[in-house]
Amino acid sequence: MKDLAGKTAFVTGAASGIGLGIATALAQAGVKVMLCDIEEAALQAAVEGLKRTNADVASVKADVSLKAELQAAAEETRTRYGNVHILVNNAGVTGGGPYGMWTDARWNWTLGVNLMAVIWGIEIFGPAMEKHGEGGHIVSTASIAGLISGSSSPYEVTKYGVVALSEGLRLQLAPRGIGVSVLCPGFIRTRIMSSRRNLPERFDDATEMAPLSDALRERIKHANERIDHGIDPLYVGELVREGIENDWPYIFTDCEFEPFIDARFAEIKRGFDRIRDRQPRR
Ligand SMILES: NC(=O)c1ccc[n+]([C@@H]2O[C@H](COP(=O)([O-])OP(=O)(O)OC[C@H]3O[C@@H](n4cnc5c(N)ncnc54)[C@H](O)[C@@H]3O)[C@@H](O)[C@H]2O)c1
Repeated sequence: MKDLAGKTAFVTGAASGIGLGIATALAQAGVKVMLCDIEEAALQAAVEGLKRTNADVASVKADVSLKAELQAAAEETRTRYGNVHILVNNAGVTGGGPYGMWTDARWNWTLGVNLMAVIWGIEIFGPAMEKHGEGGHIVSTASIAGLISGSSSPYEVTKYGVVALSEGLRLQLAPRGIGVSVLCPGFIRTRIMSSRRNLPERFDDATEMAPLSDALRERIKHANERIDHGIDPLYVGELVREGIENDWPYIFTDCEFEPFIDARFAEIKRGFDRIRDRQPRR
């Protein structure tokens, strides 16, 4: 989508971090942006900040892990701005934890915000984008953890899900005039490590914590440090804007984890090599 000025975007998780970076970068290009988030005070502050730059922005509060709230937010966006051209499914949480710490509440919270909300966003906005025919683009925020996995299984499952969804949709929606990109950030300076500030009441059980092992405590400390010194979220927003303008399938923020992705592909290739000369029995 080359000409962004005058288009309308709906961005989830837009009150802080990467979502706010994307909303800002789009607003700077003359896009009208509806910022959607669960965190009301941060949302108000974000919108006030953007309005001071003369951006045409508005906000709507929604818990995106509830389909009805996402639907209502979409309705409010259409009432305010008319046709939506850019959907950014970005809200996310670091729920879950490694094997041994799983609870149904943590799985459901993580799956709800990080994956189901993305699916619903596409279901809700996709057909309307097709119908208005003015062009469309969908960006969903996965993670580098959507391409390599380690110790936070629920988070990684949702992020692999977002990558799979985006790769498949890209093929399905291209003939319908809608571009699809998946954003796979590395360490970005945001509030992601305090995701629990937005834990919806119905997932209260997710706060129950088994005592953390020393190894896990160390890993969390390391992640906190990397995120505290991470990449500027507005830089990520600018990359996303460029990704939309040029229809990039994958939007990466840096090359730190490229060797790990190479190693994963090499392991997958070795799996084929092991059985290459065999004749499958049918
Ligand atoms: N920060 C990183 O290093 C990093 C790396 C890879 C991927 N990501 C992904 O980037 C996305 C944005 O996260 P961030 O790092 O900017 O963190 P963040 O916590 O600063 O921003 C996340 C936003 O999502 C909102 N949110 C949380 N639950 C919600 C819900 N139920 N409904 C609506 N909004 C909700 C939060 O209020 C917040 O504004 C997430 O999908 C995250 O998984 C972040």
